[in-house]
Amino acid sequence: MKHRSVAIGLLLAALLAASCAPGGGDAGVAACRVERLHLQPAAANLLGSLGTPPEHLTAAEAAATAACLAPALDAVLAAAQDPALRGAAAWAPMSKAYRGSEHGMFLQVYANQAAAASYRNYEQGAAIPVGGTVLKRSFRVDAEGRAAPYALFVMERMAPGFSPDTNDWRFALIGPDGNTVGATNGPDDAKVRYCAACHATARRQDFLLFVPPGLRL
Ligand code: HEC
Repeated sequence: MKHRSVAIGLLLAALLAASCAPGGGDAGVAACRVERLHLQPAAANLLGSLGTPPEHLTAAEAAATAACLAPALDAVLAAAQDPALRGAAAWAPMSKAYRGSEHGMFLQVYANQAAAASYRNYEQGAAIPVGGTVLKRSFRVDAEGRAAPYALFVMERMAPGFSPDTNDWRFALIGPDGNTVGATNGPDDAKVRYCAACHATARRQDFLLFVPPGLRL
């Protein structure tokens, strides 16, 4: 699992490299910092040199960092070209900010109105209807505690027949500059096939992997 996360992290970094050039998405980099990491650079740098982001922000540190970054995270949403994200700044949070098991960064899940009730009650097997969209917003924290917005991960439920291989989900990956890196059935479809490949491990629960219970809202 661990090695797979690192591999996925590297793949993501490669996919996003073009859109991570300094500029647009970097707002807030200097402003938001996890002081504990900043004050312990030696240990943190060792982790950094291994290519490992700090794994153990406390829940309070993750929440404070998410709050500090809120304007910069909203700016990423505002810049996003994907029409599925219209109005997404007002969507309900489904989770606290937490370190993702697979996406290798800090994440927070949101859902639009069509998806929210089903996403919350997935144990009851409620299917997410067409138009339902689940969004993962993310930020990274480097070895010295500097935090910056990162990618948007989107799953939009499309009409039956859109993409049988992905259970009619449209996966989209959007860089911190708002540009779409790839989307199912879009021009860069190949870049998001790895999303569905992993989410297909949850085929019996509609490709949804869900947030661990203690982190849900
Ligand atoms: C190696 C496995 C893996 C890959 C690859 C992956 N994900 Fe996920 N994804 C997860 C896991 C696990 C969760 C559950 C929450 C968590 O632990 O981060 C998740 C959660 C999500 C969610 C929230 C909905 C849910 O399933 O609960 C969205 C949206 C999402 N991923 C989109 C994407 C997109 C878009 C891509 C590709 C750019 C992608 N994912 C690639 C494992 C993966």
